Amino acid sequence: MQRYPAWDQDEARSIIAGLAHLEGATLPMLHALQEAFGHVDPQAVPLIAETLNLSRAEVHGTLSFYHDFRGAPPPARVVKLCRAEACQALGCEALVEELAREHGVAVDAATESLAVETVYCLGNCALGPAALVDGELIGRLDAGRLADLCGLAGASP
Ligand code: FES
Repeated sequence: MQRYPAWDQDEARSIIAGLAHLEGATLPMLHALQEAFGHVDPQAVPLIAETLNLSRAEVHGTLSFYHDFRGAPPPARVVKLCRAEACQALGCEALVEELAREHGVAVDAATESLAVETVYCLGNCALGPAALVDGELIGRLDAGRLADLCGLAGASP
């Protein structure tokens, strides 16, 4: 997982200023900030609003409309676990239960270090249960492999 620098208000201001000439600059600014810092800090809202002569509510509305924008830095590790029908038939719910029981990890409840997120179908149905980790599609998951992918201490090999 990519590591991002801490939010830097001066750097954010510079990124915003560099895109201010664009038509409909709000989205390009938000994307550029997320690319630079891994998230869009709420402090960006007044900066963008001021630069583009918009209200804070307008900028906040755009930011909250798109669910891909994060308001906080991403966890160090993100595992997207498929819980759609075919993967359910191949045991993904047992994996979810084992993560909770053996490691105290709840799916869809991120910490600073780990997020196991539910997704619905990764197009790998015949090789489920499936997950996506750092862009790599992984099939035929079992509990030990999933724990390894999650970086959990004591995970089986
Ligand atoms: S249902 Fe899981 S990959 Fe399609």
